[in-house]
Amino acid sequence: MAAELESPKLALVMVGLPARGKTYITTKIVRYLSWLGYRTRSFNVGSYRRARGLVKMPAEFFDPRAREAVRVRTELALEALEDLLEWLRGEGEVALYDATNHERARREQVLSRCQAEGVRVIFVESLCEDAGVIEANVRDTKLHSPDYAGMDPDEAVRDFRARIAYYESSYEPLSELDEAHSFVKLVDVGRKVVVNRVESYVGARLVYFLMNLHAARRRIWLTRHGESQFNVLGRIGGDAWLSARGSEYAKALARFLPSRLEPGEVPVVWTSTLRRTIATASALSFRAHAWRALDEIDAGICDGMTYGEIEEQMPDEFAARRANKLRYRYPRGESYADVIQRLEPVILELERQTRPVLVVAHQAVLRALYVYLTGRPQEECPYASVPLHTVIELRPNAYGYEEHRFELE
Ligand code: SIN
Repeated sequence: MAAELESPKLALVMVGLPARGKTYITTKIVRYLSWLGYRTRSFNVGSYRRARGLVKMPAEFFDPRAREAVRVRTELALEALEDLLEWLRGEGEVALYDATNHERARREQVLSRCQAEGVRVIFVESLCEDAGVIEANVRDTKLHSPDYAGMDPDEAVRDFRARIAYYESSYEPLSELDEAHSFVKLVDVGRKVVVNRVESYVGARLVYFLMNLHAARRRIWLTRHGESQFNVLGRIGGDAWLSARGSEYAKALARFLPSRLEPGEVPVVWTSTLRRTIATASALSFRAHAWRALDEIDAGICDGMTYGEIEEQMPDEFAARRANKLRYRYPRGESYADVIQRLEPVILELERQTRPVLVVAHQAVLRALYVYLTGRPQEECPYASVPLHTVIELRPNAYGYEEHRFELE
């Protein structure tokens, strides 16, 4: 569990018509809360339908007047809800119920089932006023869904629009009638956010996260500083300058970055406050901003030592670190888990940026950012591969990310 003293046991219940980015928002929340250490999982009702073999259903299946279809859809929605509650009864801490939940009666049903189990509920409604966002959602994501596999794209778009129209015919958005409940209403994924009765610690963090979200696609580059004089000596921490090889890398990076930019694009460049990252970014023709939050993991009393020296002079510390590298805290220093907590403002700013971002930082810090951006479990953080003189290019998309690695020697 993350910073709270008690496990939150919280259900985030999505609300909204199809193609309003609910699954995108769900994926983002799962990634963010998991990275912070909450055991978080999503339950997508569409997947339950498909698992039952109800794939490629015609739009009429979603007609609120089609009685048998309504019965089947309700059954599937409740099956997913019961699985969600079962998971929260066990190890789960935050569960996302990814479904349309577009009728008030269904929301009340979900709320009373959750309350009966002592689970708090926050509704998260996604509305789109911008027709372009809906269009992009339909074209970019829905047409790649198994529901439309192999179908002519124009036919698929027609069918999907008919499906949306059926949902619209019975949609009851959150309103003053829901003011007794906790909810967050997002308009055009983060353009406008309305918050009602969100009181818990994790809820407040979530609201802040949602305020920074947007639907624009961009690239993020992660790179360690060029080789430093401490790297050459095998020493950790410190504030050394670059080696000759490291300075060559700074020049190679300055040649590389423009080759990845669209004409006229100006990236945001962040470094830590340590000499080796500032020097690595110094050859770039873009201004860099130095963040203390991006400084390398604080090795405390081990700063400046080699791993061999730590093993020899502090065998207990060396063994403790090996046993649990995520939670091990250097005496008077930090653990990887501490680094994750201090990087939260960087993550929020990274989410908020619509321009491409280059982060020039350090191994532990970049490992933490990498597991967040790729949705990997926190436990993998201390082992993620982030070699020197390699730029990791990530393109987050609706359901995941694309990754390319460039070795610049
Ligand atoms: C679906 O079956 O694709 C979604 C069901 C729903 O949430 O309405």
